[in-house]
Amino acid sequence: MENLSHDIIIIGGGGAGLRAAIAAAEQDSTLDIAVVSKVYPMRSHTVSAEGGTGAVMRDYDNFDLHSFDTIKGSDYLADQDVVEYFVKEAPKEVIQMEHWGCPWSRDEDGHLSVRAFGGMSVKRTVYAADKTGFFMLHTLYQNSLKYDNLTFYDEWFATSLIVDGNRTHGITAINIKNGSFGALHSRVVIIATGGAGQVYQFTTNAQIKTGDGMAMALRGGVALKDMEFVQFHPTALPGTGILMTEASRGEGGYLVNKDGERFLKRYLPEKMELGPRDILSRAIMTEFREGRGLEGKYGNYVHLDLRHLGKETIDTKLPFVRELAKEYVGIDPVYEPIPVRPAVHYMMGGVNTDINTQTSLEGLYAVGEVACVSLNGANRLGSNSLSECLVFGAVAGREAAKKAKKLAKPSTEVVAKSVAREEKRVYDGILKNETGNESIADIRNDLRRTMEENVGIFREEKKLKTAADEVKQFRKRWGNVRVEDKNSVFNTNLTAALELDFLIDIANSVVRSALKRTESRGSHYRNDYPKRDDTNFLKHSLVFYEKDKLRVDYLPVTITKWQPAERVY
Ligand code: FUM
Repeated sequence: MENLSHDIIIIGGGGAGLRAAIAAAEQDSTLDIAVVSKVYPMRSHTVSAEGGTGAVMRDYDNFDLHSFDTIKGSDYLADQDVVEYFVKEAPKEVIQMEHWGCPWSRDEDGHLSVRAFGGMSVKRTVYAADKTGFFMLHTLYQNSLKYDNLTFYDEWFATSLIVDGNRTHGITAINIKNGSFGALHSRVVIIATGGAGQVYQFTTNAQIKTGDGMAMALRGGVALKDMEFVQFHPTALPGTGILMTEASRGEGGYLVNKDGERFLKRYLPEKMELGPRDILSRAIMTEFREGRGLEGKYGNYVHLDLRHLGKETIDTKLPFVRELAKEYVGIDPVYEPIPVRPAVHYMMGGVNTDINTQTSLEGLYAVGEVACVSLNGANRLGSNSLSECLVFGAVAGREAAKKAKKLAKPSTEVVAKSVAREEKRVYDGILKNETGNESIADIRNDLRRTMEENVGIFREEKKLKTAADEVKQFRKRWGNVRVEDKNSVFNTNLTAALELDFLIDIANSVVRSALKRTESRGSHYRNDYPKRDDTNFLKHSLVFYEKDKLRVDYLPVTITKWQPAERVY
């Protein structure tokens, strides 16, 4: 493969990546920008987002209220300057999407419809039925096609960042279609590769969400922030993990246990089904532990009951939920309750960035779920993530465009050396390794099981230590992995091995940070330390990769006007 050169390279073609691409292309039409994605952009995980995007769009709402809901939801770990910026920009982005043709749902009087979501004080979630991500991604992709200075590399797999000293010079990548390998060099790189939900057995996340960008940044010398905070969504289908959107509860759906009881009255009597995700997920797990869950092929579950909403509401507001439930569990929610259980949905942690999405490496930015700009703290408020992709995607694109004008061209020498090193690692070390005898699927399954069992909704030192020991073993086993398919064309066996390599680093980061945080905050609940401890832990964790080991450090939280208080709903 010839070595290709651009001013800006964006890894990832989902909501954040495309919004960044558009912002950069608009900012400066002389810039040469590329989007590199391991799938076609329309297959990015944003497409499966359902319930909506949070923004202040009504007179009864205001920026302080949206900020407060976000900060309280985050268990006071969000950086408040970031939150304040975000809430002010989100409505502008929603209107921008409207102008680009996003078919938002509307009320009779023409206003954009808003719905209730968990942990919010008022109805604030703008939506397009329950296929919001699908419509947003289409809107962004179609708009991105009008820029002549944007090139797409679809089905190209990024393997590493090219780093020299304190600067990035581009990426190394495999063209999946023909197996050729080389560099895409650039003055600036934006990582927008999404999260890493595949590190758990039971997740709403697509197969592609394997933490590639997080692991590449970590290996490139950038810290991962707040990795212990993993969000479990309370309502996913048992078996597949397919999301039954929070919009189901926003529209009035009930959660009931095996006795037909709306059990949330014991945990969140004021909020009931509209409580925050961390508390709801723990409540459901407690029902299971205390014998009030239903039993199925995939373990315990509770019921999501929409029957009282009626066919018309379900068909207009929740058509996808109906379609998915019928298709995947053979249940029509108009007539029967849907079996659901908590599943990993979102990583609050990610590549450490400042408010401008800049990382500690010159020329490297990160945005969307892969990043931790510190909007979500210890528990993300439902429907803030699509808005985050828009708001901070735009920031990343604009900042990258400015930076690309200032930075010199990448060094061809550095690029050539990195390509040679990486090609040796991937092709000689992994693909052509004839002595390896470990199966990719076996290691991956074991890893995901360990994370589910030991680093789940309820955590404690003993289990976290078990996970840490096992992750070490997975790293050893991975060193002996066998790629069965030796062909160059569409070798998904090779990319699966590389994804597993990334996943092991992510698991290690989550476990290490979780072990050190001896308190309970948001989604990180320690049975052995059940209280929040602001004296010692009102701080972000940072994980660094040093000499093949991880080191954990901390960073203060930015507080503007909301002093930490007890989190009661
Ligand atoms: O339930 C949902 O629709 C999820 C939304 C979100 O994660 O923001």
